[in-house]
This record gives sequence, structure tokens and C-alpha cells, in this order.
Amino acid sequence: MPVLHVSVEDLRPGMYIVDMGLSWIDHPYLYAKEGLIRSHAQIVEIIHQGFAEAYYDTEQSNIQPAEPITLKSLGISPAVPKIVPLGEELEQVENTYSDCVRHAKEFMLEARNGTVDLEPSRPLVQGIIDSVNRNIDALTSLAKIKHYDEYTFAHCVNVSIFSVAFGKYLGLDQKRLFLLGMAGLFHDLGKMQVPVEILNAPRRLTDEEFAVMKTHALLGQKTLASVKGIAPEILMGVGQHHEKHDGSGYPDCLVGSGISLFGRILSVADCYDALSSKRVYKDAMPPTKALSIMFEMRKGAWEPGLLERFIKMLGIYPVGTPVELTSGFKGVVAKSNPVMPMQPVAAVVRAPDGRGIVPPRTVDLAKHAGIKITHPLTAGEAEDIDILSILKSLGN
Ligand SMILES: [Fe+2]
Repeated sequence: MPVLHVSVEDLRPGMYIVDMGLSWIDHPYLYAKEGLIRSHAQIVEIIHQGFAEAYYDTEQSNIQPAEPITLKSLGISPAVPKIVPLGEELEQVENTYSDCVRHAKEFMLEARNGTVDLEPSRPLVQGIIDSVNRNIDALTSLAKIKHYDEYTFAHCVNVSIFSVAFGKYLGLDQKRLFLLGMAGLFHDLGKMQVPVEILNAPRRLTDEEFAVMKTHALLGQKTLASVKGIAPEILMGVGQHHEKHDGSGYPDCLVGSGISLFGRILSVADCYDALSSKRVYKDAMPPTKALSIMFEMRKGAWEPGLLERFIKMLGIYPVGTPVELTSGFKGVVAKSNPVMPMQPVAAVVRAPDGRGIVPPRTVDLAKHAGIKITHPLTAGEAEDIDILSILKSLGN
């Protein structure tokens, strides 16, 4: 069959989309749902879902002439702001991040008594939003570079960061971003009412223990509900952050659109941070690996397109990921490439013989067809690479 490749912005009603059976890792933004494109509204939805390309069968298509659709004409703007250079923003926000983790420890310990005070968190969540507005890569990379022994507290902050970044990417306004950031920060509040031997068990929980662990979503929601004037969006997000699209989640086995937008966003952010973090029973996993595991589980867990958009926001190799190149050099991803996600910009810092490269040499892999990323480095392999200093030294 005569098949042509098309960018989603050039899709037209009447095009018959075909599934070429291509792998996600090579074509992460390929729209491959077989069938006829019926309307402009459908094209807008495909673009909103984060797809970038498609293949169509010219014989089965009946293309109607149409004005070209551009992102601008649809009112869609590239939603990843980079107003301030990454290095500069990292310098500025490093203290904000550690302040947030310290504060999370305070309010989480206080929540053991079933009480919470939201007021001191407000400026910190606003600080997260301000940083994401300046450069979305700063806190999303910092959250994965910094390692705290006490996972539970850093996790609250990280879920707030990834939720705010994702909300921003999805186009939420500043007021809703603030509520979302608060929901992220407090999403696991109820865990502090779970017995500590279950919460910190360095092993798989028994069925009985897991049943107790599951109560944390409603316990947290209940504690927050006692705060006068709290926004219902926060309560729904916290109570629903373990619900799943196919109804297999908890506590209420909600299905599809029965799960609030905040619940869905928190679920993605929570899963990403949990998988990629170091825990007492497992090492930190490279972000790329965490995203590929989430991609495998996406059908049951999230509505179609949601995870794809999250991956598109971060990149398959998120900024700050240490990687090895086919040339044998090692480096750190310094800038993602939304069009060619497998070919980001890397800051090369180590030669194949182990020699350090100072200052780091920036290589745009999209412009070097012969050089590719072989794999993201594990925490052990990247032990001698000071990722934060490298990113701070860069101008992008
Ligand atoms: Fe949770």
C-alpha cells in the first residue's frame, strides 16, 4: 500500500491513518490509531495529546483541501518555558528545593497526629511554580539529581514539582497550578498515620500490610478536609492519586473520566518519582528506564495520550540524565530535543580512557548522525560525574 509520512500539523480530514507497527522507543510520538481522520477537531485533539507524526495510506484516503493548520493557528504554543538559562536557574532554585524538603519533613511529622497547617507551604509551592515558569528543566532535573536518605519527604516535594511542570505543560492556569502544587506536596500526608514498620518495610508488603498502606489516600484526604476553605480540587487529587484508568486502583476503583484531572496528574508524577528514586530496598533507576516501564503499564493506568505527553515534556532522556555515547564518551543530557527525542544535546565530560574533559564539550546529537546514546548510566556508573556542577556550568 502506498504510505506517506506526515507531521501532525499537516494532517487533513480524509487521511486514512495506518499503524506501521513501529516501536515506541524509535517513534515515541507516532500517532498510529488506524482509521480515517474525520474532522479538524480530531486533529486538534491528536496534537493536544502530544503526537508529532503519523503515516497515512494514500489509496484509502480522500483528502479534503484545507487551510494548513499550524500550532499558532490552533492557539497551541510550545508549553515548555526556558526564559532563564538552566545553569542560572539551578543556582537560584537549589535552596528552594532543600527548603521544601526540610519543610515537608516538618509537616509530615506533624501529620502523625492527624493535623496539618497549609499556610507555611504556600510560599514554597509558589517558589516551585515561579521556577517552572522560568525554566521547566531546573527543578525537574534537580529532583532527580539530589538524593536524600529520607525518601518519604523528598518524594512529597518531587511529586509537587513534577505535577506543577506537567500541569504547566498541559496548559493549566496559574491558579490551578498552585492548587495542583499543594495537592502534590500533601498527596501522601496520610502515610504518616500508617504504622512505621509498614511504611518503611524494606521488603514486599503482605496482603494485610498492603491493605493498611492503601488507607493512606483517604486518611490524607480526611486530615486535609479539616482545613477551613480547602479547595475541593486538592481533596480530590489527594484522595484519587492511586486510582487507575481501568478501575483497578484504590480506594474507590474509579474508572476513566471519573478520576479528576488532579488525580490523574498526581498519579503520573507519583509513579515517575517512585520508580526513579532510590529506596531502602532498591537503587535509583535511570529516568529513561522509569519512563519505559511506565509506558508498558500505561493502558491500565492512564487515559490514552496522558503518559505520552508526560514523556514528551521530559524527553526520553530527561535533562540531567548521565549517558554513554557510541563514541565511548560519557556525558550528561543538557537539553532535550522535542522533535528528535533520541538525539538530545549532551555535555561530554569523560573520554573513553577515563580522562576528564574540562570544561564539558557540548555535542548536539541531532547534528552528529554517527553518534548516538548507547544507554543511560546507572547511579554506580555515574558515581564520578558531578551532574549538578556540569548543568550549572552550561549556558542553555
Ligand atoms: Fe501515595
